[in-house]
Amino acid sequence: MKSRIKLEWENVKNFISMNELDEMMPQIESAHHLLLAKKGRGADFLGWLDLPLKASALLQEIREESARICSEAENFLVIGIGGSYLGARAVIEAVGCGCNAPQIYFAGHNMSSDYIGDLLDSFKGKELFINVISKSGTTTEPGVVFRIFKEYMEMRYGREGASRRIIATTDATKGALRQMAKEEGYKTFIIPDDVGGRFSVLTPVGLLPIAVAGIDIEEILKGAASWIEVANNPEISENPSYLYAAIRNLLYRKGKLIEILGNWHPRLHYIAEWWKQLFGESEGKDGKGIFPASVDLTTDLHSLGQWIQEGQRILFETFLWVEKSKRELTIPRDKKDIDGLNYLAGMSPEMVNRKAYEGTALAHLEGSVPNMTIIIPELTPYYVGQIIYFFERAVAIGGYLLGVNPFDQPGVEAYKKNMFRLLGKLDH
Ligand code: PA5
Repeated sequence: MKSRIKLEWENVKNFISMNELDEMMPQIESAHHLLLAKKGRGADFLGWLDLPLKASALLQEIREESARICSEAENFLVIGIGGSYLGARAVIEAVGCGCNAPQIYFAGHNMSSDYIGDLLDSFKGKELFINVISKSGTTTEPGVVFRIFKEYMEMRYGREGASRRIIATTDATKGALRQMAKEEGYKTFIIPDDVGGRFSVLTPVGLLPIAVAGIDIEEILKGAASWIEVANNPEISENPSYLYAAIRNLLYRKGKLIEILGNWHPRLHYIAEWWKQLFGESEGKDGKGIFPASVDLTTDLHSLGQWIQEGQRILFETFLWVEKSKRELTIPRDKKDIDGLNYLAGMSPEMVNRKAYEGTALAHLEGSVPNMTIIIPELTPYYVGQIIYFFERAVAIGGYLLGVNPFDQPGVEAYKKNMFRLLGKLDH
């Protein structure tokens, strides 16, 4: 049997007691039952709960489509924002692309003319396929960017050539993107009605770009499915997702209002970006919620490290630590040793990284920043699948413990109203 990701929480024990955790058990059990019985808030958006089991029905179609794309494309552009962007990027960056994969690009998550123009330049002379992803099919950012790339593709390949190189992932029936796909004859994939954007990485939203990147999507689903078993036990001593949710909730009640997800591996940067959306949109409402922030380590010890060590004591941290690196490197001995680093000669940089992690966790604890660590055995598709489901179940239970609906995001409409008014849209 494969091992599992683990939650190490020794460094929060000065801040919360076993008694407090035990006292939370009835609330956790009730949240757990509401979630699984689909009787809690946002119950119409619980399709993600069994996606790792259901999605295998889609594997064949996604594999065939990704094989078609990979056989022709040198560049593959994924257009989307929020939940229609972050999951795919997080997994692709964490695992890395296969050697025969096309170069993957992302757009639609900003509206910078320079960014879009630079992309157009880099596609010159390279075979391009596009996957445009939007559940609503009407989001402004990907809409604007897709309009530009649709015109580019039609000018470059003709209307028919463009339509076989554009794949749309959207709602089964509604939205402008669905209508456009129908009129232009694009290949389409469906985002299920009952899966919200930030929970959609294990639908074609994430799985198609991840497959095009040459990553084994079946392994991701297997990893995620293996966590369903863990998460279906409400007992926190057996269920790290719920333990994490309970610890966060207790720390929040004690004034720890900001959680920093600190990764010790640059490949996890976009897992943190995905996590920020998952937790920020799910919890930040009704005047409540832990603010999800992130740091790259050790990089940010030389910028935000000062604040974390000595700023306002409203923080806690969750570290992401990968046990096994893919590569072996050794720090060389130097005859002159001018830099005084010969005491590290023969060690791997990863060993120095580990000691930096251990030293930082201790220093932050001493500075009143409780911290816990998610230990990931290896950055493989299987364990990335576990990470995804670990956090999804944690945020669902965390939202219920907080007393909010973790599956809506009414606040994201406010900026849109103003933007539409300022742009002179007639029916905003
Ligand atoms: O989680 C969500 O629902 C949002 O962040 C959406 O993913 C994001 O707004 C993009 O929406 P759409 O896929 O409709 O373009």
